[in-house]
Amino acid sequence: MALRLGDVAPDFAANTTEGPIQFHQWLGNGWGVLFSHPADYTPVCTTELGAVARIKAEFEKRNVKVIAVSVDPLESHHGWIKDINETQRCSMNFPIIADEKRQVATAYDMIHPNADDKATVRSVFVIGPDKKIKLTLTYPASTGRNFLEILRVIDSLQLTSGHKVATPADWKQGEECIVVPALSDADATKLFPKGFRKIKPYLRYTPQPNI
Ligand code: BEZ
Repeated sequence: MALRLGDVAPDFAANTTEGPIQFHQWLGNGWGVLFSHPADYTPVCTTELGAVARIKAEFEKRNVKVIAVSVDPLESHHGWIKDINETQRCSMNFPIIADEKRQVATAYDMIHPNADDKATVRSVFVIGPDKKIKLTLTYPASTGRNFLEILRVIDSLQLTSGHKVATPADWKQGEECIVVPALSDADATKLFPKGFRKIKPYLRYTPQPNI
């Protein structure tokens, strides 16, 4: 069965371009992003890995480790990394899992046979410090992902895990948040010293509480 939000992210042992890992141990106590790509030496994937390498510092700032996976072998990954570095203004700085036996792809349901029975789709899993899945995304092979959106979601996930707020459409770090509906006005007054704006009983905005 497909993995759902709140499920524990399956643990696995794997070979990567930065050596063997045990996934949960590698994650440590922080957050993680595991993302699959269909195949090495393909154009969209080349741009995606370059894009992540260029903004890796942004993931680190948020205490997030990133790791990619495809069903190609390690030697292929190493050769491809040279092309990524050459063409994408980057120096690859995170591991790629060599999932030749499809253990990771199977555990995370990354092969969608009605799309392609051999290659993985473009899956993204954001995993919290409790090793539970906080976000899943699935893109087709033909569409490269927007990794700034993944960072934006992580900002929301990290904020809302510690404060009784949600984030509205297109929210970005620093913008007004939504007071969760379960909170009464009286409790919201106590919890949010900067106050809140009440548009409707269920639609209340407050300044981002952690800045
Ligand atoms: C790509 O990464 O460019 C790609 C991979 C599989 C199918 C189509 C595009």
